[in-house]
Amino acid sequence: MPAKRAHIQTFGCQMNEHDSQRMAKILESAGYEMTGDPAQAQVVLVNTCSVRENPENKVYSLLGRLRSLKKGGARVIIGVAGCVAQQEGEAILHREKCVDLVFGPDNYFDLPDMIAAAERGERVLNTEWLSGRQKVRNFIPEERMEQVALEGCKGYIAITKGCDNFCSFCIVPYTRGREVSREMDNILREARTMLEQGAKEIWLLGQNVNSYTADGAGFYELLDAVSRLDGLRRLRFTSPHPNDWNNRLSELMAERPAICNHLHLPFQAGGNRVLALMRRRHTIEDYLEKVRYMRAINPQLEISTDIIVGFPTESDEEFAWTLRVMDEVRFSQVFAFKYSVRPGTRAAGMEDDVPREVKEERLARVLELQERITEEQLRALAGSRHDVLIDGAHLRRQGVMNGRTEGFRPVSVPGGELEIGDLVPVRITGYRNHWLEAERLVNLSASA
Ligand code: SAH
Ligand code: SF4
Ligand code: F3S
Repeated sequence: MPAKRAHIQTFGCQMNEHDSQRMAKILESAGYEMTGDPAQAQVVLVNTCSVRENPENKVYSLLGRLRSLKKGGARVIIGVAGCVAQQEGEAILHREKCVDLVFGPDNYFDLPDMIAAAERGERVLNTEWLSGRQKVRNFIPEERMEQVALEGCKGYIAITKGCDNFCSFCIVPYTRGREVSREMDNILREARTMLEQGAKEIWLLGQNVNSYTADGAGFYELLDAVSRLDGLRRLRFTSPHPNDWNNRLSELMAERPAICNHLHLPFQAGGNRVLALMRRRHTIEDYLEKVRYMRAINPQLEISTDIIVGFPTESDEEFAWTLRVMDEVRFSQVFAFKYSVRPGTRAAGMEDDVPREVKEERLARVLELQERITEEQLRALAGSRHDVLIDGAHLRRQGVMNGRTEGFRPVSVPGGELEIGDLVPVRITGYRNHWLEAERLVNLSASA
């Protein structure tokens, strides 16, 4: 009998990627094999994101295309998961007749039951929040704890879910609900399971990781405890919020070898009036002060960020501050977005008054400036030594492997014999597009 196959397509953030990895594990334990081709699958899931208008439009056009999978009465179950599902709920079932399941980020552990219902011909809507009676909850069900989100040598752990920040532009608090932190022991157990299963790098995930709090422990205590686990080579986390960042965390990052020298710290906008309208709860001076301190004690640190251009009422002068911040911090990577109105958010009550062309021009200027900074950084890296964690084979170049530096820069490394999870010392020889090129150095610790 041919194996049952499932296909998952994911949009959005790393938390959504994590949820998809867990869904894949649930489906695998129910006897499905994962496939990259939706036409081969009996279950097709789209894990959606609604943080901006564009990704949301993409989902509807994808669903339009998926309709054809059911042509001629083919038996395939189509499900919509994630943040658009949570937000639109029943409207998706009305709008797209081909959809059998609609379920939110809190409900994917019910997948086997939902699929069984769809096989009986039901159309399922499941967007109820897990009850949030306790502030601290271990939201990964006990029986799923062994099915960790491990891909290659990298493991992903959700330490919190939801967000209580309510930045005025952002829909996440509405699609993911109130913030909940898992207990530290529960997280450490998942981390140990991952390490036993071969993880070399662990990512701690949350919408605002550094507001983590459970049983008196904060993000500092959690990071400290995870970074000491045996067998862990690299520890990363995303995203921290600048308002909850402090110098103690910078110090811990600088002194603990396993914690990577890379921080993704979104600043969104350079103007204080705009930051206040965004409800980010910090000034740009606070942000820059924290960055100056962490750079002073940790010169190797690479910092990346998110920027929104064209927030309601943002003037040219205020936008110029955004460019000035980029010039000062010299980020390793910038994710920049044109502001888009999200229904139900506070900013939706403001007039979206920056014209589209102005937003586009500002976005282009951000990207242009970052391109120049990145080029200068890549050029300056020539000759420097790094350890690269190998995470895959180069798609086109035979005998070349891909990996990342501690600062999260992608590198191509010669050596067909290398395996995923190897940590190899290299010297940077140049770059192609945004990828560093490297030569291998003798691995003095290889026999250790
Ligand atoms: N929790 C993370 C951000 C998650 S959303 C944090 O607070 O840093 C990822 C990014 O999408 C945000 O940092 C922001 O830059 C962008 N974004 C969110 N809502 C947006 C909107 N309405 N319009 C444009 N960009 C938006
Ligand atoms: Fe959205 Fe702000 Fe929460 Fe990030 S911290 S998810 S931007 S509300
Ligand atoms: Fe998108 Fe939801 Fe993540 S809106 S950014 S998938 S939390």
